[in-house]
Amino acid sequence: MTDVEKRHATPATLEWEYAPAPEARDIVSFQQRYGLFVGGEHVEPRTGEWFASISPATEEPLAEVALAGAEDVDLAVGAARDAYENGWSGLRASERAKYLFRIARILQERSRELAVAESLDGGKPIKESRDVDLPLAAAHFFYYAGWADKLEYAFPNRGPQPLGVAGQIIPWNFPLLMLAWKIAPALAAGNTVVLKPAETTPLTALLFTDVCRQAELPPGVVNIVTGDGSTGAHLVKHAGVDKIAFTGSTEVGKAIQRELAGTGTRLTLELGGKAANIVFDDCALDQAVEGIVNGIYFNQGHVCCAGSRLLVQESIAETFVGKLKRRLTTLRVGDPLDKNTDVGAINSKAQLEKIRELVASGKEEGAEIYQPPCVLPEKGYWFAPTVFTNVAQSYRIAQEEIFGPVLSVLTFRTPEEALEKANNTAYGLSAGVWTEKGSRILWMAERLRAGVVWANTYNRFDPASPFGGYKESGFGREGGRHGLEPYLRFE
Ligand code: NAI
Ligand code: MG
Repeated sequence: MTDVEKRHATPATLEWEYAPAPEARDIVSFQQRYGLFVGGEHVEPRTGEWFASISPATEEPLAEVALAGAEDVDLAVGAARDAYENGWSGLRASERAKYLFRIARILQERSRELAVAESLDGGKPIKESRDVDLPLAAAHFFYYAGWADKLEYAFPNRGPQPLGVAGQIIPWNFPLLMLAWKIAPALAAGNTVVLKPAETTPLTALLFTDVCRQAELPPGVVNIVTGDGSTGAHLVKHAGVDKIAFTGSTEVGKAIQRELAGTGTRLTLELGGKAANIVFDDCALDQAVEGIVNGIYFNQGHVCCAGSRLLVQESIAETFVGKLKRRLTTLRVGDPLDKNTDVGAINSKAQLEKIRELVASGKEEGAEIYQPPCVLPEKGYWFAPTVFTNVAQSYRIAQEEIFGPVLSVLTFRTPEEALEKANNTAYGLSAGVWTEKGSRILWMAERLRAGVVWANTYNRFDPASPFGGYKESGFGREGGRHGLEPYLRFE
């Protein structure tokens, strides 16, 4: 097309070509192998077993990591106990704060390296790891650093005391950010930790061990044990752990709760969700379209609070879904390290299979599927952004957490009906409301059974704001002053 032709072309005939904008990956160098981080040292696993973490975008192995067994977990818990009793718990609170501030600053300094590592290991777009995961992880450490020497003010006249050793198990969707959500409040409250990253995304936690070293954090305050579900189970069962914090699937959360019932070990669970994003006919439609897109396609939909059910008022449903579909055609799916990428790789083969299976069930049960035309790379794990219309509440795609870039659209006529449908779920983590009327926002927010309700926005996070669920989404809060409480006992 010549320049003159381009100027006269209609948007439909004009092809906007993006030049590739790859982030350089040589800022990260992974070791060939990573041992376990126990007592400030990298040690070989007693099991003698290792496994590879791959890049889900290319299936290329990035590094080998240790598979920790019961004995390894025991050594890590021992190191954490030792650090707790012989130093950390007796340290002046302002000293604890100092280490947390240092970690926060080092995360900022090394943010490009860590963002690239996060995108390589987990498949998320670099613009998300760069602009969301890393800044929020650093902000979390800054925030809790501020509380470390002010616990008496956070909980006046209650005599807050640390619990001891915290066992923390995190998922693969926000690896470094979930590490920050777990480690920052635990350390601020005066505990030591043993953290187990997810098996598909252990690498940023292992790079974090170098951040701890740089910050001169006393050995044993943070211990990292890599491995799979069996490693997590050993940590849960360990009698030397005073508190378990788990983020992951509802199924595993229930198993952990059963395991710990009656043991006295403190527990918080942050589990799945099936959030309703509710669009009323008086809202700013185009702004709402952006919010819906952000709600379900951000991080490939691997988000516990994803707005995976769109409830749209019947009077605008056709217009709104039309706008949404048009917007989907502009989403760029592909190389996570390209700065223009909106939707990256699905985190693992297993997760891709789960998404495919649920999408197949949606078609079978009678929903209508839409996917914008897009060419998916041949290697790696990919799934096109997907919208289902004609969805009944009973369909599996309206009930089950898909944890992928798949939106189910339902309609409603009245606020009461929207509310009833939104609350018709076993989960209760988050919800979104889009309307011009403040009174309606308040009316809805009061009645939605969800830990977080966003109004005319979605997926907003701030370390000062508590986050957590109702019902099968778990219990306990992370973030804010509330996030300290699960790591403290009171006199
Ligand atoms: P998962 O719950 O199995 O894994 C999360 C973490 O728990 C990982 O570190 C894993 O190694 C560990 N784990 C697994 N079994 C354990 C056990 N018995 N005891 C202690 N720790 C254990 O989740 P998975 O299999 O990776 O994903 C399955 C589904 O779970 C996803 O499709 C999604 O629907 C949901 N999920 C929800 C998350 C959330 O943030 N709410 C995060 C990850 C998954
Ligand atoms: Mg990986």
